[in-house]
Amino acid sequence: MCVENTKLVEPTVELKGEFLAMANEFKAEGSDTMNGVGSIEIDNFENSIIHAKNHSRGIDLPQGWVPASTFWLVSNNQIVGSCNIRHQLNEFLENYGGHVGYGIRPSQRQKGYGMRILKLSLEKAKQLGLERVLITCDDDNIASIIIIETNGGKLEDKIMDEGHKVPTRRYWIDLRLRET
Ligand SMILES: CC(C)(COP(=O)(O)OP(=O)(O)OC[C@H]1O[C@@H](n2cnc3c(N)ncnc32)[C@H](O)[C@@H]1OP(=O)(O)O)[C@@H](O)C(=O)NCCC(=O)NCCS
Repeated sequence: MCVENTKLVEPTVELKGEFLAMANEFKAEGSDTMNGVGSIEIDNFENSIIHAKNHSRGIDLPQGWVPASTFWLVSNNQIVGSCNIRHQLNEFLENYGGHVGYGIRPSQRQKGYGMRILKLSLEKAKQLGLERVLITCDDDNIASIIIIETNGGKLEDKIMDEGHKVPTRRYWIDLRLRET
């Protein structure tokens, strides 16, 4: 599979088998929520596809949620990762979650897909009308730090939360300066 051929697609029931395979890989490394990079649930797959579509359009949002779009990074009908783009920030997202979350399935890491998924996510964010995006990551997440800084992230600060073992880095990326 070629990294450059991958694209972001909206979650679809047609890729259920692929999604379950990816979700199980995340589960095996201890992440039941796939690092929170989407709202698709294994046990409620078909309904959560509908919810994801609605949430991206601001419909039926649970209390306190902001509109957000989930995408899968796909090539040749294989899902290699997932991302979630929040259309606006609330207090939690301002401090910890940021506008964009992303994850690459464990079997496909260290091949360039992480770099690719953030690049494509920023294009989607720009299409959504965002001018600046906040991206956060743990202070010890070396791969994500490289990905964010390579994509133009400027470190704003590091925040220490009581429940967290390491500080959260907060980066801003100015989309107005990007071509796509
Ligand atoms: C972080 C994550 C997305 C990286 O995905 P990936 O596909 O492995 O990333 P890439 O292959 O594009 O690598 C990006 C850079 O990080 C480096 N890298 C990748 N994994 C690394 C690791 N474990 N340790 C150190 N550097 C690493 C790569 O060498 C590359 O650097 P380079 O361009 O200088 O060569 C992936 O590990 C993941 O999904 N982790 C769990 C969820 C997560 O942390 N999401 C980000 C939250 S902000």
